[in-house]
Amino acid sequence: MKYDQTAALVLGIESSCDETGVALVQGIGHGVPALLAHALHSQIVMHQPYGGVVPELASRDHIRRVLPLAQRVLQEAKRTLPQVDVVAYTRGPGLAGALLVGAGVACALGAALGKPVMGVHHLEGHLLSPFLSADPPEFPFVALLVSGGHTQLMRVDGVGRYVLLGETIDDAAGEAFDKSAKLMGLPYPGGAALSTLAENGNPKAYKLPRPLLHSGDLDFSFAGLKTAVMVQAKRLLQAGPGPAVGAGALAFADLDPTTQADLAASTEAAIVEVLVLKSLAAIRHTGLRRLVVAGGVGANRLLREDLNRACDKMGIRVHYPELHLCTDNGAMIALAAAMRLQAGQQQPSMAYAFDVKPRWPLDQL
Ligand code: KG4
Ligand code: ZN
Repeated sequence: MKYDQTAALVLGIESSCDETGVALVQGIGHGVPALLAHALHSQIVMHQPYGGVVPELASRDHIRRVLPLAQRVLQEAKRTLPQVDVVAYTRGPGLAGALLVGAGVACALGAALGKPVMGVHHLEGHLLSPFLSADPPEFPFVALLVSGGHTQLMRVDGVGRYVLLGETIDDAAGEAFDKSAKLMGLPYPGGAALSTLAENGNPKAYKLPRPLLHSGDLDFSFAGLKTAVMVQAKRLLQAGPGPAVGAGALAFADLDPTTQADLAASTEAAIVEVLVLKSLAAIRHTGLRRLVVAGGVGANRLLREDLNRACDKMGIRVHYPELHLCTDNGAMIALAAAMRLQAGQQQPSMAYAFDVKPRWPLDQL
């Protein structure tokens, strides 16, 4: 191989769901690889009229966005394509068609440049993203991975050394936020909007279940919570409107603002309490003294406040990704590839036949 694997210039492409992300990361010996530039296009506005991600539209939009984003990143980093040592892409998990776009473009670029390619696990990207923060963690640590599709607690002993401690048996925490938000008439994806609505609400106003809180294991379940929120919302709507409402079916948005905020706050409190208490249980179970939170729900303000407070009391350090790197992005994919190269965990490949893995457990890496 003609380059030093600990100092590789890695172009990373993320296209697993509704965000196209491209980034350039430079390996710097044994330190944390440096993020030179990254660019992101979110498809949220495009999917909003449908209330969720439309896979075919997502794939087509990734095709439109990925090369202009790559050009932008190269320009910003003042690098050229031939200078790239490795092209990395998200191989899974995610939407098959969306993943195929990133994989196809990465392999075509690799073949055209005569450079190797590397398929990266999307959740490993999330997991390692706090290394790009101003306060990077050290191994080993417990990771709470909370995204739109996954809720997992992992023991992380190093790059590629992951042991699953517990995970959701049904909906993910992000899904619980998104589905509850949808019931409240908030636009997709809903998590951040529900959190904003909750800001002026009373988290104790409605009693909602904390599923599996005392199950004695580290698994989660959020499907029942969504149903409880739905039942509560229906009850409120039957009890009648707040301000003057015309004839016809009532919508959640017709309830008085305090009631809306109270249900949002009660929902957020239920999800956050479970995430916090299970994370602390994982810390106790492993005896580790460090917690890393990653994935879109890691941007949640209440989760950060409550985790910080609880971990402070136990003398546990908590690390988060920078807020703008909590949700999907190309930087975490380029970073994960660079860290895998640095750790000698994965050889990039000059074979450009690619596959994607829409389902891919992280502990089977
Ligand atoms: O990691 P991510 O970008 O995508 C997946 O890999 O799934 O996570 C997206 C999820 C969505 O469910 C979104 O509603 C949630 O993260 N999310 C939030 C917040 N920001 C994003 N949930 C709660 N509070 C937030 N501030
Ligand atoms: Zn993600």
